[in-house]
Amino acid sequence: MSKKIEFHGSDLEKIAEYYQIQKEEITQFGANVNPLGLSEHIKQELAAHLDIISRYPDRNYTSLKNAISRYCGCRPENVVVGNGSTELISLLISQRSAKKALVLGPTYSEYERELSLTGGQLSYYNLKESDNFILDSKDFINSIAEGTDLVIICNPNNPTSSAINQSDMQKIVDYCHAKDIFVMIDETYVEFVPDMATITAVPLTEHYDNLMVIRGVSKFFAAPGLRFGYAATSNRRFLSMLLTHQNPWSLNSIGAFAGELMLQDTEYIEKTRRLIAEQRQKMYQELAKLDTFQVYPAYANFILLRILKKGITSFQVFEAAIREKMMIRDCSSFQSLNGEFVRFCIMLPKDNQRLLSVLQNI
Ligand SMILES: Cc1ncc(COP(=O)(O)O)c(C=O)c1O
Repeated sequence: MSKKIEFHGSDLEKIAEYYQIQKEEITQFGANVNPLGLSEHIKQELAAHLDIISRYPDRNYTSLKNAISRYCGCRPENVVVGNGSTELISLLISQRSAKKALVLGPTYSEYERELSLTGGQLSYYNLKESDNFILDSKDFINSIAEGTDLVIICNPNNPTSSAINQSDMQKIVDYCHAKDIFVMIDETYVEFVPDMATITAVPLTEHYDNLMVIRGVSKFFAAPGLRFGYAATSNRRFLSMLLTHQNPWSLNSIGAFAGELMLQDTEYIEKTRRLIAEQRQKMYQELAKLDTFQVYPAYANFILLRILKKGITSFQVFEAAIREKMMIRDCSSFQSLNGEFVRFCIMLPKDNQRLLSVLQNI
């Protein structure tokens, strides 16, 4: 067995060098990015409008906010745009400067990193493996400690791929409203769920001002390099505080231009949803037949697996895949995932088949 070295999910260069593979040859099952790549329509429009770089973006992003409003069903005046959802997560956490934050885990590590910079207290409520990582919202609400002023939820959640439906989310937001607790919901993966209307919390922003929902185009529209994120909240006071602390033109003009077109690219949106739904179901069904893994119900474009076979570690499964030039995510760095877990995202059918063969031979 080779010695375990530490890799992060996006350490493509490091991994390519370590395993002596050209990085272009690696299929990225760890990045959670739509395998269709950038839409042809967007590529053509970008190529034809490169001169946009010579102009500042509209400082108020009015046209883009109108497009977001139509796409998500929220008011344009409730929208803030930013440099990826990462900037908005960072702005929200720094501006709330929570004394006591509760994070639903195991989850994306950036929340903890940002919270650590504000100096507040952080605790986790962990989803239970024995419940297939499905949240018991009543138990969650009961565990919100006195003095909590910020709750952070990723929905659907990375890495469990579980999701909280809108009515359960409303119970959480409603309780938090009564207790004066602000709720941040990261919906980076929401467009991949089978029925978005039953999951998204954007409509709740109309009725509750203790809530901000954050999204981006990095994953669903295969555009992580564009750095376009957006968020919705009806809390105008908080919104203007965010804008005061945000750098002007934080989203560049190319991002604003392409982002607006992406949200209207219905053909690409539907093609993606069909591909992910079909391939996710196929992978789930095939993996559920194996004794080697426990597979959990998946709402996002990735699937979490627990290794049941004795003596096999997540790193060994990672290595088996990378030797075939497929990079999956070894989940050992995720807080509170006790046991051996790996995560992979849905790629093109022929690649999914290749990964399935590797997993079937573990
Ligand atoms: C849950 C979650 N939120 C946010 C991000 C970052 O997204 P963006 O590229 O929009 O900053 C990621 C990236 O992996 C993620 O998994």
